Amino acid sequence: MNKKKINIIVTAGPTHEYIDPVRYITNPSTGVMGYEIARRAKLKGHNVTLISGPTNNPKPAGVKVVDVVTAWQMKNAVDKYFAACDCLVMAAAVADFRPQSVFSGKIKKKKSLSLILEQTPDILAGLVHKKAGRIIAGFALETENLIKNAKFKLKNKNLDFIVANLYSKNTIPFGSRNVSLYIIDKEDREEGFINLSKSRLAGIILDRIEKLWYKSINISRGVK
Ligand code: CTP
Repeated sequence: MNKKKINIIVTAGPTHEYIDPVRYITNPSTGVMGYEIARRAKLKGHNVTLISGPTNNPKPAGVKVVDVVTAWQMKNAVDKYFAACDCLVMAAAVADFRPQSVFSGKIKKKKSLSLILEQTPDILAGLVHKKAGRIIAGFALETENLIKNAKFKLKNKNLDFIVANLYSKNTIPFGSRNVSLYIIDKEDREEGFINLSKSRLAGIILDRIEKLWYKSINISRGVK
C-alpha cells in the first residue's frame, strides 16, 4: 500500500442564512463530527482543509481552516479548493433555503411576518461531473426511510459512501457525544454502528477514505 499524503477537504457545521442583520435561519449542527475527521486526518499526516460554518469548536492544530457563514460561501470555498483535492468529506449541514431577500435593517416587531425562502445551491450535486478519480463522502440526516433516502442521495450525488444518521425523538445526533448510524457504499453494502462516540466514528470514516484512496491510486498505477 502506498501511504502518500492525501489532500482532504472536510466541511463542517451549519450555515447561517440571514433574514436581516441580526437574525438568521440555521440548524442545530455543532460541527463536531467534521472537526474530528479533520483533526484525525491531520494526525495521520494528511493535508487537511476544513471549510467550516459557524461553530464553537477549537481549530484543529495544523489544519487550514476556511471560515464561511452561508451556503453560497461554503459552495464558493469548496469549488475553490476542490480542484486540488483527492478527497472531499461533506459533513456540513448546509441550509437548504435562504430568504429570497435580506432586510437591510432590523425587522421591527409586528403581528406576523411572511418570508419567501429560495433554494440554496446543492454543493455536492454541483460536483457530480467534476469528480474524476476523487473520493467523495457525504452525510445524510433523515427523519424517515433512512436507508432508502440515503441510498438515493448516494447515487444522485455520485458519492463513494454516505454516512446516514437517523433523527427521531430518541435519536438526536445534534450535540450528542455518541451516535448510531449506517455507512452505505456504492456496492449497496450497509454497515451499522450503534452508540459510538463521534471521535471513534471519525476514525472509522477516515479508515474507509484511506482504503478507497490507496486502492484507487494503486489501481491507476497498475499495482495489485
Ligand atoms: N449538501 C450539499 N449542499 C446542500 C445541502 C446538502 O452539498 N445545499 C450535502 C450535505 O453536506 C450532505 C449531503 O449533501 O453531505 C446530504 O445532505 P442532507 O441535508 O441530508 O440532504 P439534502 O441533499 O439537503 O436533501 P433533503 O434536505 O431533501 O433531505
